[in-house]
Amino acid sequence: MAKIMVFEHPLIQHKVALMRNKDTACKEFRDLAREVAMLMTYEVTRDLPTEEVEIETPICKTTVKMLAGKKLAIVPILRAGLGFVDGMLEIIPSAKVGHVGLYRDPETHEPVEYYCKLPEDIDKRKIIIVDPMLATGGSAVAAVDFVKQKGAKEITFMCLIAAPEGIEALTTAHPDVDIYIAAKDEKLNENAYIVPGLGDAGDRIFGTK
Ligand code: PRP
Ligand code: URA
Repeated sequence: MAKIMVFEHPLIQHKVALMRNKDTACKEFRDLAREVAMLMTYEVTRDLPTEEVEIETPICKTTVKMLAGKKLAIVPILRAGLGFVDGMLEIIPSAKVGHVGLYRDPETHEPVEYYCKLPEDIDKRKIIIVDPMLATGGSAVAAVDFVKQKGAKEITFMCLIAAPEGIEALTTAHPDVDIYIAAKDEKLNENAYIVPGLGDAGDRIFGTK
């Protein structure tokens, strides 16, 4: 059964609140996305295995815990998911990055695929799929479908804002995928935008509107 974690940390709540404000400009929005991604990555990687390693400090020899070399891949859903990648790579610089290109058809709100490029050894990696918005869930479900088709087995989904409809769709289609959410919102509106949400995440990150 999927684990669903909604962050209640004051720093994350504060930064998401700033991102929601329609007067927050593109550069500040991008900076905040990077910062929230860093904070969320701390929790998303909590279960990474460690191993004991012998080292020598300036004082004496000792045994310390270090990451056991579990391979990771960050997979942003284009294009808004790109806003999370830099922040995550600051925390886990050895992670590989795959890309899944999807956009929502403006009429049907169904996801349309236009790109998929993943690390070759995707089946051996822990995959973190990232996208700021989980609205109807169509894009997230399709992205998980793609990476599973390519052999991925251990998948986590991380987003900024989720609607109940999107959480339901993703957990129903992929009950094995854990979901990390910075804020859970009320509902979708008639255009399948999250309410209160933050608007169109891609436009706000890239300044296209
Ligand atoms: C947005 C967002 C998600 C998707 C969520 O992307 O970044 O990928 O919508 O909606 P859903 O849960 O209903 O599928 P969009 O399709 O606007 O593309 P963009 O990132 O290129 O702007
Ligand atoms: N995509 C967005 O960018 N925002 C929403 O609220 C829903 C889908």
